[in-house]
Amino acid sequence: MAGNWKMYKTPAETRAFFEAFLPLVQAASHCEIVICAPFPDLPAAVESVRGTRIQVGAQDLHWAREGAFTGEVSGPMIQATGATHVIIGHSERREYFGETDEMVLKKTLAALDASLAPVVCVGERLEHRESGQTETILCGQCQKGIACLEARQFAKIVIAYEPVWAIGTGKTATPEVAAEAHRVIRKQMRAHFGEEAAAEVRILYGGSVKPDNVKSLMAQPEIDGVLVGGASLDAASFAKIVNFPS
Ligand code: PGA
Repeated sequence: MAGNWKMYKTPAETRAFFEAFLPLVQAASHCEIVICAPFPDLPAAVESVRGTRIQVGAQDLHWAREGAFTGEVSGPMIQATGATHVIIGHSERREYFGETDEMVLKKTLAALDASLAPVVCVGERLEHRESGQTETILCGQCQKGIACLEARQFAKIVIAYEPVWAIGTGKTATPEVAAEAHRVIRKQMRAHFGEEAAAEVRILYGGSVKPDNVKSLMAQPEIDGVLVGGASLDAASFAKIVNFPS
């Protein structure tokens, strides 16, 4: 169960979140929990979760280890904060910052190089879905962004299916629609990495996941977890999502 805070919260707000959140998820042992916070919040987040099962991630990275890239942050810098994960190719990065599948691949390799677990996002836009191109788009993103990995690298990534039309819009894919897309992605992965690796890779669903729809999404065997934006900002609401089985 992963939270993506996007561009919200200061370090003080980060500490306040975890103070409220930790007691609420103390008993949750059925899943991994990762909060992906803005770069300046990573030290406060890492410190807040010390001694718990909760992990911290970043939301992007540059593919170089260091260099003259004003405003960018590298994998080793993220890793040095104690963060363990990084979101790559989120649709907001693709849409507003021109990220391509080629960049997603470079960033995925850089994350692995820095021992960070990449959460690689794929997803179609509304016009793709309406014109019947969902499968073509997902396959293209998987092919260019993920299929070039070596098997040992693939074993370390998490995939997130994030239909662009469902992100921050309040429109959730129905569990059936999400599961169908997950099947398409897994089929692609099977073709490239074989049956066993494809069965093992975790595919998260992201897009307007809320406390009241998480259960029906997670009831789909194809959906291994969720990547939550808006509803991860509030400790009580994200705790309800994490605690969905109870
Ligand atoms: P949302 O965002 O839950 O606010 O739709 C999901 C995401 O962007 O990861």
